[in-house]
Amino acid sequence: SASGGIAGQVVRWQRAHGRHRLPWQGTRDPYRVWLSEIMLQQTQVSVVLGYYERFLQRFPDVAALAAAPVDDVLGLWSGLGYYSRARNLHRCAQAVVADHGGRFPATSEGLQQLPGIGRSTAAAIAAFCFGERTAILDGNVKRVLARTLGFGEDLASAASERRLWDLANALVPAKAADMPAYTQGLMDLGATVCLVRNPHCLLCPLQTTCVARQQGQPESYPVKTRK
Ligand code: ADE
Ligand code: SF4
Repeated sequence: SASGGIAGQVVRWQRAHGRHRLPWQGTRDPYRVWLSEIMLQQTQVSVVLGYYERFLQRFPDVAALAAAPVDDVLGLWSGLGYYSRARNLHRCAQAVVADHGGRFPATSEGLQQLPGIGRSTAAAIAAFCFGERTAILDGNVKRVLARTLGFGEDLASAASERRLWDLANALVPAKAADMPAYTQGLMDLGATVCLVRNPHCLLCPLQTTCVARQQGQPESYPVKTRK
């Protein structure tokens, strides 16, 4: 299964050293995975945990969420911030019920058409729930991949960001069954090893291939050109 190359290293490392006991892991229910990914977009794991449990108690499935008054949704979101996320969450649930028979689309393309679901969030849901071989690229993963690959372009440029997306898509595992561990592994590396400052390169599964580490200045990636 997870053999050589960057993907194999990430998959093996995730299975041995990554996070495994988060409440949205070990499910392939798109509703639960979607809810966690939206909450985690701008909020740290420790804060999300309590909100996630309360939310699922009150809204156990997408139909319950869609049927609720928006003020109930905003009330349960209170304290998480970025309230457009809660409004989009409610709109998204209503779209899933009204336009998709109450079932989330099973592809990242389909998921991306829904309110509040961008390219990386769609890819995460599709990888975790359906094993789709498509790359995520959130802020943490941009840092991990830019360093590993020695990607020397400023991601403020849309063309450069597109090139990193293409490189990220070329790195995904060959086997669909490895996609959940791979996707979680990149997130876990970004959150626990490849930190913005003082990355723990000696603990990193990519240390022997990482271009930024070879060059001796991992923190110089992702590149930000002076304005
Ligand atoms: N941040 C975004 N998605 C996450 C996930 N699935 N687990 C932990 N942190 C995350
Ligand atoms: Fe990040 Fe260091 Fe790992 Fe490279 S070796 S990906 S810089 S933690």
